[in-house]
Amino acid sequence: MSEVRLAFMGFGNVGRALGSLLLRKREDILKDFDITFRVTGIATGRHGAAIDPHGIDLAQALVLVEGGDSLKTLSDHPAPRDGLDFIRACPADVLFESIPVNYDRGQPAIDYLKTALEHQMHAVTANKGPVVHAYRELTDLAALHGCKFYFESAVMDGAPLFSMFRAALPAAGLRRFRGVLNSTTNLMLKRMEEGDSFEQAVAHAQSIGIAETDPSGDIDGWDAAVKVSALVTVLMGLPLKPAQVDRTGIRGITPEAVQQARAEHKRWKLVCMAERQGQDVVSRVAPELVGTDSPLYGVQGTSSLVTFETDVLGELSIVEENPGPHTTAYGMLADFLNAVRQ
Ligand SMILES: NC(=O)c1ccc[n+]([C@@H]2O[C@H](COP(=O)([O-])OP(=O)(O)OC[C@H]3O[C@@H](n4cnc5c(N)ncnc54)[C@H](OP(=O)(O)O)[C@@H]3O)[C@@H](O)[C@H]2O)c1
Repeated sequence: MSEVRLAFMGFGNVGRALGSLLLRKREDILKDFDITFRVTGIATGRHGAAIDPHGIDLAQALVLVEGGDSLKTLSDHPAPRDGLDFIRACPADVLFESIPVNYDRGQPAIDYLKTALEHQMHAVTANKGPVVHAYRELTDLAALHGCKFYFESAVMDGAPLFSMFRAALPAAGLRRFRGVLNSTTNLMLKRMEEGDSFEQAVAHAQSIGIAETDPSGDIDGWDAAVKVSALVTVLMGLPLKPAQVDRTGIRGITPEAVQQARAEHKRWKLVCMAERQGQDVVSRVAPELVGTDSPLYGVQGTSSLVTFETDVLGELSIVEENPGPHTTAYGMLADFLNAVRQ
């Protein structure tokens, strides 16, 4: 039996869902993999941090943060000065990073992940920023230190995209992909079909916690472009920045256009695609009208779908129904187990 020490950088919706999932899966992980775990550190932005090499009571940590309290009462160390100080002081084998995404530079998450790898920790993130801004650098650094840099939850939450190509599709060449990858806009288009104005659809997405106070990252297609960039960078092996994706959001799609499409048995979808063309790749995020014969037609609400076309299996699609922090947490749990059992 081996024991793995776990540290959390970020204990928000995703971090806490992962904490709950770890508690629920503790017996299964022991039975199936002969692995036990101990949480040795948790760091947040405004809820303090705790480090205890003997083990932090995870259930108690969940209660404290959900009640708006600080974690510092669970610590047997002086409070770290910052996130980097926390990682250096925390004895751990795996760092789970789930802090808010920084689309422009991926920081400070990239520095957190680098520091973790330099301290021989496997680095697991749900954050798209480090994948699009530092995938190669972090992967090489992980290899140098005999560790893994895994990020399954960065695109389509817990659905296995990156690990499917890594583990189940050796030597497969990805020619193109096409799908719906942004939940907020897909839900907004559904709400407009049901009679909401554009503003009401935004307000609804905000009220259920999937759209930011400033929803432009979703509406203008940035979130979708970041996901396209991550898939192209990792699965096609071509570094592509989000700004290089040809991008149109859904601001031009009026409720009238949605109703007109409905009358014609069609739907507007914010479609993400990329296609290899020689040594290059063409990539795009843009609204498209799809008919009932398209697999995208039935992808409703917060669900998503991607179809990959490879040179060995033809088309292969993955659908994720109603994702949330719990599915994102599962992607991180799977990354943790895949990293430590190899
Ligand atoms: N929510 C989802 O379903 C989902 C799905 C896929 C990917 N993701 C990605 O997962 C990440 C986390 O999402 P979330 O919904 O859990 O966000 P969240 O609820 O806002 O939680 C963010 C956490 O990070 C902490 N934090 C903020 N800045 C920090 C810093 N500089 N150093 C250390 N900790 C810091 C926050 O602490 P305080 O609260 O104390 O300030 C909080 O614990 C994001 O990158 C997101 O894009 C989320």
